[in-house]
Amino acid sequence: MSFDFSTAMAGARFSNPILTASGCAGSGKELSQFFRLSELGAIVTKSIMVKPRSGRATPRMAETPSGMLNSIGLQGPGIDQFLENDIPWLKEQGVKIVISIAGESVEDYAVLARKVRGVAGITALEVNISCPNVENRGQVFACNPTTAREAISAVRRNIGGEVPIIAKLTPDVTDITEIAREVVDAGADGLALINTLLGMVIDTNTMLPKLSQKTGGLSGPAIRPVAVRAIYQVHAALPNTPILGMGGVASGRDAFELVLAGASAVSVGTATFGNPTAAMAIKQELEEICIQRGFQNFRDAIGFAHRVEGGDGE
Ligand code: FUM
Repeated sequence: MSFDFSTAMAGARFSNPILTASGCAGSGKELSQFFRLSELGAIVTKSIMVKPRSGRATPRMAETPSGMLNSIGLQGPGIDQFLENDIPWLKEQGVKIVISIAGESVEDYAVLARKVRGVAGITALEVNISCPNVENRGQVFACNPTTAREAISAVRRNIGGEVPIIAKLTPDVTDITEIAREVVDAGADGLALINTLLGMVIDTNTMLPKLSQKTGGLSGPAIRPVAVRAIYQVHAALPNTPILGMGGVASGRDAFELVLAGASAVSVGTATFGNPTAAMAIKQELEEICIQRGFQNFRDAIGFAHRVEGGDGE
């Protein structure tokens, strides 16, 4: 009997559970030199804002032990250019498309949702309410239950009923399940866990911060245990809400760990910078591990770690 590697999130179906992570594959043109994008479960595009944006000043990347800091600042062409140039090209590739949006205000989220609403062939909308590289912490909507709710409600009201909404959350909060409950209550169909953690590196030679804007988002294997913890907690709290897991996945085994914690699909991010074909290797390894562990169906592995006899399930 052949293994069923397909998965689903809030009505969106994927032939396999490996997606790109927003911000690590642009709109896919560079990656398409290395493999057919249609081999991915879906591409998640770089979070797009209402207006074109050049991002923060350089230096805006720094290596860290088992990870990296980025302080890109949501560089991008703006939603109109993106929909005109990138989406038609992506559709030609036959890949499922998850558009990621990011706003500076609740009204921005409403505007972005209305723009996406008119576009056919979009599999899901990732609503990034957790970018750490913003002017002030008040703009990290996902750090506060009220602002998180307002942003997701604005998207829900303006996107219509057909496109599933995936809210992207930050682990930089006291209780991620509180924020998760708020956004699901506000209309999110799924959750993307986790965005990068706010970090900082100081160059001990210059004795100054390495990044121009001082702080950046920490990603890579260093944050995987945080991702596993957040996914596990949220899956325990909201077992019927699908989770797109991400955070330091560099191998099929890493992806499997997130799946066992409760992820219905897994995004590959930072690993792509070192190896553009990482997503394809991880996809193959994940399928092999699922089969080795005796699963006939990928979906049976989702949240398996919660099935501990006598465990506290927390
Ligand atoms: O700075 C950035 O563009 C990063 C965005 C994010 O982590 O959401």
